[in-house]
Amino acid sequence: MDKVIIFDTTLRDGEQAAGASLNPQEKLEIARQLEKLGVDVIEAGFPASSPGDFEAVQLISKEVQRPIICALSLANIDAVDRAWEAIKEASHPRIHVFLSASDIHLLYQLKKGREEILVMSREIVARAKSHVDDVEFSPMDASRSEPDYLYRMLEAAIEAGATTVNIPDTVGYATPQEFGDLIQGIFDNVPNIHKAVVSVHCHNDLGLAVANSLEAIRKGARQVECTVNGIGERAGNASLEEIVMALKTRQDFFGLTTGINTRQIYKASRLVSEVIGFPVQPNKAIVGANAFRHQSGVHQDGVIKKSITYEIMDPKSVGIPSSVLVLSKLSGKRAFRERLAELGYTLDEEDFARAFKRFKELADKKKEVTDRDIESLIAEERRTTTEVYHLDHVEVSCGDHSLPTATVRLISPDGRSLADAALGTGPVDAVYKAINRIVGIPNELTEFTVKSVTEGIDAIGEVLIRVESEGVTYTGRGAATDIIVASAKAYMNALNRLLVSKAAKTGKGKRK
Ligand code: KIV
Ligand code: ZN
Repeated sequence: MDKVIIFDTTLRDGEQAAGASLNPQEKLEIARQLEKLGVDVIEAGFPASSPGDFEAVQLISKEVQRPIICALSLANIDAVDRAWEAIKEASHPRIHVFLSASDIHLLYQLKKGREEILVMSREIVARAKSHVDDVEFSPMDASRSEPDYLYRMLEAAIEAGATTVNIPDTVGYATPQEFGDLIQGIFDNVPNIHKAVVSVHCHNDLGLAVANSLEAIRKGARQVECTVNGIGERAGNASLEEIVMALKTRQDFFGLTTGINTRQIYKASRLVSEVIGFPVQPNKAIVGANAFRHQSGVHQDGVIKKSITYEIMDPKSVGIPSSVLVLSKLSGKRAFRERLAELGYTLDEEDFARAFKRFKELADKKKEVTDRDIESLIAEERRTTTEVYHLDHVEVSCGDHSLPTATVRLISPDGRSLADAALGTGPVDAVYKAINRIVGIPNELTEFTVKSVTEGIDAIGEVLIRVESEGVTYTGRGAATDIIVASAKAYMNALNRLLVSKAAKTGKGKRK
């Protein structure tokens, strides 16, 4: 048996997805779940890119012990030193340096010749090696590079001390056969390749990231870089859950294993979706809402007779809750705690007490409380722990013959109660204008969607919004049985994230 190293880059390449910025606490929460998931390496961020990212990588390095914590670095001495500063307290630190290898990048972006880049590769790996033994090197845009030059670059990096060489398909251009041939070429032509682990990092511009990664693994790559839900720059990266489940389900074909606890996959997917604010498409393989739903009568008939007829994986194996039990207002603490445990949540007493209070409030409004309701409720609870301003009260008056008017009350970071009112073109507009009068941060609402968590007129409504401020997009989510309240919560969530991010840049603190 041979093991594939799972290198998760949700917190680095995943966070590069437009509108996906995370604060250090959010990154830490995801890192903790990645540790439970059993990933071997967490690429926690790009410390030289911003003070906030430096802080996040440092925090994760201190708090998350089992996996290797990796920091990405540009190919310059200061950036490498900064990466080291951020990870030096990790139990298992790694520096990952990258430098372009393709003539397209050398000519148009770096404006440097091949020989100069070779010297730089050696120097930069050596600098990383002076800090830590575990050094990864990526020749960026490898799939569009001239193979003989790529081989020389890899040889130089390994000679200088790289222990992992990562082959990126940076722009998602390769096809599986081509990419597999490239990996084979590397094994055949880089004389010292046996001294390093060969890794791959595939982007999904043509929808081939997973296929390319799997083909590379078939040719001998033993580390794969991927992200939860496949998020990442542009069309994203290879999806972790798809690669892991392909290797597991087709173990007969690949003959390989991973260290992933697949039962944590669904939880990781929900958490990343909630925290980043990117919904998972219903037909997404492994974790989409329809991934294990059978609609056609013929299929349903087959599955009832024997699940193997139309199911190649057991939904339980990826941690999709199997229970059909629903809770109601008569359910007590014990039932709620058990349900939480089944859904993979372990809350301390204080968090549990708050979640139970919310559950009871919800159960008063809603006849049945489903698993999705509970997930939504926990997500709502999580959002309030990183607040700057707290939404205390929202009230609207609207109708076809009245001017939509909203009154809101917020609790400020220093505990003051601040109220204001505004008119709007509709109730949501009025609420947002009233909030703006208090918070006073210029921004533009660029996206607003509302969907119900479950079926039924009493369902929780989930609102997802994006706002833009000074060229940066912030996502906000809110959930409530009243969609105006959910909209107000989503706006507050986006504004709070905006404020936290600004505070990280200016060094000012937040409420908790
Ligand atoms: O896509 C890419 O080339 C990267 C490198 C930094 C590995 O993300
Ligand atoms: Zn990438």
